[in-house]
Amino acid sequence: MTKANEPIFTNPFRPGAGHMPPHLAGRTNDKAEFKRLLDQDVVLENLILTGLRGVGKTVLLETFKPMAISEGWLWVGTDLSETVSVSEDNLAIRLLTDLSVVTSGISQSVQDKKVGFTIGEESKINWNYAKLVKIYNETPGLVADKLKTVLEIVWSLVNQLGKKGIIFAYDEAQNLADNAEKDQYPLSTLLDVFQSLQRKEFRMMLALTGLPTLLPKLVEARTYSERMFRVVFLDRLEDSETKQAIKVPIEKNNCPVRFDENSISTICEVSGGYPYFIQFICKEVYDRWVQQHAEAGQVTSIPVDEIVRKLDADFFSGRWARVTDRQRDVLKIVARMPNPEFTVQEIVTGSHHSSNRPFTNSRVSAILNSLMEAGLVYRNRHGKYRFAVPMFGQFILRHLDDDNEALLW
Ligand SMILES: Nc1ncnc2c1ncn2[C@@H]1O[C@H](COP(=O)(O)OP(=O)(O)O)[C@@H](O)[C@H]1O
Ligand SMILES: [Mg+2]
Repeated sequence: MTKANEPIFTNPFRPGAGHMPPHLAGRTNDKAEFKRLLDQDVVLENLILTGLRGVGKTVLLETFKPMAISEGWLWVGTDLSETVSVSEDNLAIRLLTDLSVVTSGISQSVQDKKVGFTIGEESKINWNYAKLVKIYNETPGLVADKLKTVLEIVWSLVNQLGKKGIIFAYDEAQNLADNAEKDQYPLSTLLDVFQSLQRKEFRMMLALTGLPTLLPKLVEARTYSERMFRVVFLDRLEDSETKQAIKVPIEKNNCPVRFDENSISTICEVSGGYPYFIQFICKEVYDRWVQQHAEAGQVTSIPVDEIVRKLDADFFSGRWARVTDRQRDVLKIVARMPNPEFTVQEIVTGSHHSSNRPFTNSRVSAILNSLMEAGLVYRNRHGKYRFAVPMFGQFILRHLDDDNEALLW
């Protein structure tokens, strides 16, 4: 029973993009890896944090922020999910905007010794957004030259402040892209600028997160990206870590709900160790239990079917709804394959076995490209494809036989 002076314990689980979990399980090696990057005196490696949707990239990046700050770094950045094919100028404005958040706190006294001023009279420079943009606009040359000039000046300020350097953290960075048709190369510009600054030993480090399409995209823009980044691939949690993610948040004195070992194993299995699914299932189980029981107690079984149905409706069906009929045909063929990796040829062969119209190689390639654009599949470094959404194949298989697709989809 809750004592009068104790706050009512509310459901601690947080299924939701970018929502910090009540307990961030695992990820010890990934944090250590980031710590190692923070310790670099000369930035030789930048960070890419990649993995499927819902695996915990955003919240881990958020966890890195205080780590960096306590090591003397400044942290700037933003979420690029709204960024659709920006221009180089947009990219520059983006960087200056983010940078001004930390530089505007710096106001520098300048001893002005020009004629007409009393020696020793001080004027102040405020390094706000307007000042950064002014320098940018007044610098001749290409966007990259202008940006470098501003960043070099900012670097000297950061140095004076006794800070170690600046981290530029960009979430959903797979949205950055060059656009040859419009002669705009924001992604290449970003890479060129940071590579050039890092060669001059300015400690300005990129920390990019995104779907697994991110690194291939960077390498396509600039082949040297492969050497410039340390890629941290976030995977599903191990069983023991999944258990921690489930148990720790409710092992509190006034928490009315406990999960027994059996229920915990079921959650491990159904979630596949994927963080979003863990939060989703735990939240459901918790809510259902609290609604059905007045007293504190132990959950001894999990209504798997109902929860999976809700997961399908809340998480998967929205994504499926945006897929065209022909894309669905391809995805269904893939879902039936025994292997998580697939090739164009395997899909073509599979299409001959299914009742659908068979596909040609070029059609499959085109469809896979559009599915990559939509963030549903990605191509790995061996040239094979995979789903970018965890357990998407199982979702499709669960609904292959639905007679009335429209009902669910
Ligand atoms: N290590 C973790 N332990 C427990 N839950 C986590 C962990 N990492 C992420 N989550 C949960 O998973 C969900 C997805 O996290 P998010 O960072 O948005 O993923 P991504 O950015 O990779 O799509 C959120 O509900 C978050 O609370
Ligand atoms: Mg995210």
